[in-house]
Amino acid sequence: MTRENEQLHQSSMKGMENDESTEKIVTSMWDVNVLITTENKNDVAKGSAYKQALADLQDAAACLRQGQTVAFPTETVYGLGADARSTAAVEAIFAAKGRPSDNPLIVHIAQRDQLDSLVTEVNGTAEALMEAFWPGPLTLVLPVRPGAVSPRVTAGLDTVGVRIPDHPVALQLIAAAECPVAAPSANRSGRPSPTLAAHVREDLAGRIGGIVDGGPTGVGVESTVVQVGDDGTVTILRPGGITAEQLSAVAARVATDPALLAEGPGGDDSPAPRSPGMKYTHYAPTGALCVVEGPPAAVAAWISAALAEAAQRGERTAVLAFAEHAEQYRADAVFSLGEASELEEAARRLYAALRSCDEQGATYIVAEACSREGLGAAVMNRLLKAAGHRLIQVGNQ
Ligand code: TXA
Ligand code: MG
Repeated sequence: MTRENEQLHQSSMKGMENDESTEKIVTSMWDVNVLITTENKNDVAKGSAYKQALADLQDAAACLRQGQTVAFPTETVYGLGADARSTAAVEAIFAAKGRPSDNPLIVHIAQRDQLDSLVTEVNGTAEALMEAFWPGPLTLVLPVRPGAVSPRVTAGLDTVGVRIPDHPVALQLIAAAECPVAAPSANRSGRPSPTLAAHVREDLAGRIGGIVDGGPTGVGVESTVVQVGDDGTVTILRPGGITAEQLSAVAARVATDPALLAEGPGGDDSPAPRSPGMKYTHYAPTGALCVVEGPPAAVAAWISAALAEAAQRGERTAVLAFAEHAEQYRADAVFSLGEASELEEAARRLYAALRSCDEQGATYIVAEACSREGLGAAVMNRLLKAAGHRLIQVGNQ
């Protein structure tokens, strides 16, 4: 068998040289891009590559069955998977990521009928949401069936977050693994989530069993996490790929976790979030980042002046801006998030742009705010987290 098995070692990986603890392990790489790009599976040349990729997916699934950690693409971001039933396997996820143990993991399944073995109850509203948005970027928090998954997955809660990802590679891998797959985003804790296999490699090579490379992810921000109350109210615990507006088209009452609305720089006396992960600082680049909100002309004027001052101080500057202004800024690195009216593009580009700020060595970073409607809710949530909630309001609101 000629499986391409690129062996990577932690010591050779950028940014990991000073890393403590975990013993180095060999990380297998499986490139299955051909499964996504091949239109005609019968094309002879592509046919053999296609078969090889299918065999690679079986290898990756075997690793999962053996209790190893395997990173794989989903439609949102890359996930770091392990058998959700195995405490040892799930602990390997926490160790590789450096993730706090009180932060529960999302369980990924390939088919709706796998859900019944994981949860005890699915009410009508939850059923309608699954019908409308699965497979897709919606995670439902449901009452966990005792013993169905390792208690490390749920971090001791009596609920479990579950979703069916809308990605052919993820679905085939989970089906072949024949187990529910616990998978947080495949980044080191605190880093931006990975939207490319290369991002996973940067963060986790030498720490995980393997990486399935299926090309760039689609949505670019994580799934929306919701909990459905007994009265049918859908509470958004984390904004994401399915918007509040989309949820409202299916459920009569949609609310946002008060802790999310109260999020800010102070933080300490705000209510505890029902999605434990929301309390951590995330996605933060190394340089100081702030977000600027207001009428577009005022935002552009403020940012231009701030960049000039920062350059004077000797800072290395970067800006994340929408296409309307991107060309007018003078900075060491300018990242366009696409048109302000098409936030799908901003969601797709955001995490890679934050990672690039680090690659460019930016010490002073400014980002333009966007609308908080639709996908903008998720984009602004992630931007503000990355900025440690440093939000500057300019102009007349
Ligand atoms: O799109 C996604 O959701 C990606 C891909 C890989 O599927 N996964 C992801 O996982 O973002 P992670 O671990 O980075 O984020 C999981 C979020 C956390 O905020 C966590 O607190 C919340 O879901 N969560 C998981 N189980 C929960 C539960 N039982 N109750 C409340 N929140 C839960
Ligand atoms: Mg994450």
